[in-house]
Amino acid sequence: MTIRAVVRGVGHYLPARVVENAEFEGKLDTTDEWIRSRTGIERRHFAAEGETTSQLAIKAAEAALADAGLNAGDIDAIVVATSTPDFTFPSVATMVQAGLGNTNAFAFDVQAVCAGFVFALANANGMILSGQAKRVLVIGAETFSRIMDWADRGTCVLFGDGAGALIVEAAEGTGTAADRGILASDLHSDGRYRELLYVDGGVSTNGRSGHLRMQGNAVFKHAVQKLAETAHTALEKAGLTPDDVSWIVPHQANLRIITATAERMQVPMERVVVTVADHGNTSAASIPLALSTARARGQIKAGDLIVTEAIGGGLAWGSVVLRW
Ligand code: UT7
Repeated sequence: MTIRAVVRGVGHYLPARVVENAEFEGKLDTTDEWIRSRTGIERRHFAAEGETTSQLAIKAAEAALADAGLNAGDIDAIVVATSTPDFTFPSVATMVQAGLGNTNAFAFDVQAVCAGFVFALANANGMILSGQAKRVLVIGAETFSRIMDWADRGTCVLFGDGAGALIVEAAEGTGTAADRGILASDLHSDGRYRELLYVDGGVSTNGRSGHLRMQGNAVFKHAVQKLAETAHTALEKAGLTPDDVSWIVPHQANLRIITATAERMQVPMERVVVTVADHGNTSAASIPLALSTARARGQIKAGDLIVTEAIGGGLAWGSVVLRW
């Protein structure tokens, strides 16, 4: 008998305020046309004043619990991937736990920036396979609008706020790639590239929360090369090939990166979930937001083989292969 971490429910939450590209035109030397053609982004959501990452995460978690037909007390571990926590500590995950009214789960945050959800999901899988947890609530939640430098047109038009949540639970499988659940993962980091994408503030440096700084073009080149590589590796580990893929659910940073990765994997765009136009780059929230949106659109169905892949600050990157 093989234990698998099988998806039981999914949900998401987007803050009410929608900001169209045109809103930046009056404030910055930019155009809707530039943003659309260079990134595929048309609009993004921004959290309201006082609306925090944990509040977004709780709403996404409630949607996932409702989808799964579960109560908060049925969850025995909560992992939140975020780089924009409410406070330096405690973790957003413990705030989600309290917000949901759960007292029996252990809860902690994972910080791998835009790759955070992939890292969190791989960890949830490890906890389930090792018997540490039976049902894990895995959330990606971010308020990147809080760390934007609004004078930097190269970054502030790219990011948005939101949260997505997935519940995975232990189930018996056969040990073959026909099983439902997480079949393989592949994680990488290379701290030599810190300067390419970072936030210029922090507790032990200058005591500020800081602003995001990015050498976009250099990150772009790493993304195009590394994402296809990690997706191939994870598929290989699962004993599968790109032909077996029903949907690539990529990190939603830039439509050109998404397209280039799909091309390298020789997967047609009809089998790629794209939400970047409406969400922008929501960092760790982007993949669970895309999974939930795709399910709502009727794109993802039970039995579909899904590859998620992401890269972000660190650099940190990776992928997870799962059967829905
Ligand atoms: O989620 C974490 C991972 N992050 C990513 O994956 C982001 C990866 N990078 C990207 O998506 C792209 O590199 C960007 C969208 C950030 C930039 O696109 P690019 O095609 O790489 O443009 P670039 O940085 O090479 O800049 C091209 C030009 C520059 O002007 P000059 O130097 O050629 O005169 C920029 O100053 O575009 C200019 N530019 C803009 N122009 C109008 C940069 N931002 C803007 C803007 N509006 N908002």
